[in-house]
Amino acid sequence: MADPLARILTVFMLALLITPAFVLADEENEEGAELGSLAVLGITLIFAGTAYYALTKRRLFIEHRKGEPGIVVRPERPYVTVFGPVYPMTIHHLSTVVGTLLALAHFATCGDYSTLAGGAGLGMAITLVLLNISGFYGRYIHIRIERTARKSERRALKRLVVLLRRWKVFHVALVVVFLILLGVHLATVGD
Ligand code: HEM
Ligand code: HEM
Repeated sequence: MADPLARILTVFMLALLITPAFVLADEENEEGAELGSLAVLGITLIFAGTAYYALTKRRLFIEHRKGEPGIVVRPERPYVTVFGPVYPMTIHHLSTVVGTLLALAHFATCGDYSTLAGGAGLGMAITLVLLNISGFYGRYIHIRIERTARKSERRALKRLVVLLRRWKVFHVALVVVFLILLGVHLATVGD
């Protein structure tokens, strides 16, 4: 993915991370608010885990290193170093799977797909499942690349790198579809 596009996506996701908190506050007295809160928590987890991965991968202002948990702040780039027992990809993986399950719990209790909000909800449920399947496939490609690189099979490695690039365009395109549907859902729910 082109770097400027990735940056725009990251900023967009961070903005969306804040949005559900306002929706949640607005929603407090409505029926079904408890499960609506599950959706907010789920979406927040998905965006937080994805944003953390995207930011640490580029080391723009935060980097992640494996080690005893801790945070070091210093005046020069990347400013913040977070130490943790797992890799950012594992955080991305876990947060998106758990977040999806929470969002699907909300989806399962809202049965009306005839409205615009409901249709967008159904679309989001499908997109989330596709994103997770796609994510597992992406991890599989990553593992194959590592194995092939160790064996120094240059031709196979080249093919896999092209496959990873294409897969990533697909994975991120699904994210864009999801964000559009989420926007429609939040704008029309309760109409
Ligand atoms: C920030 C995230 C979300 C918030 C704040 C939110 C909020 C709401 C609220 C307040 C309702 C109406 C009350 C209710 O029936 O519980 C609703 C309905 C619904 N939501 Fe969500 N939702 C979110 C994300 C999602 C996601 C990710 C999906 C799908 C995976 C989804 C699917 C649905 C469906 C199908 C309905 C039924 C539509 C209707 O009754 O007209 N929602 N949502
Ligand atoms: C709602 C679910 C998901 C969303 C919204 C999502 C979002 C994203 C985004 C935006 C990126 C691009 C990050 C960047 O390069 O800046 C990405 C990359 C990636 N995601 Fe996901 N993802 C989801 C689920 C998953 C799952 C479940 C897995 C793994 C099992 C996964 C594995 C990956 C991998 C392997 C990459 C690419 C790593 C790389 O080559 O840089 N994703 N994801």
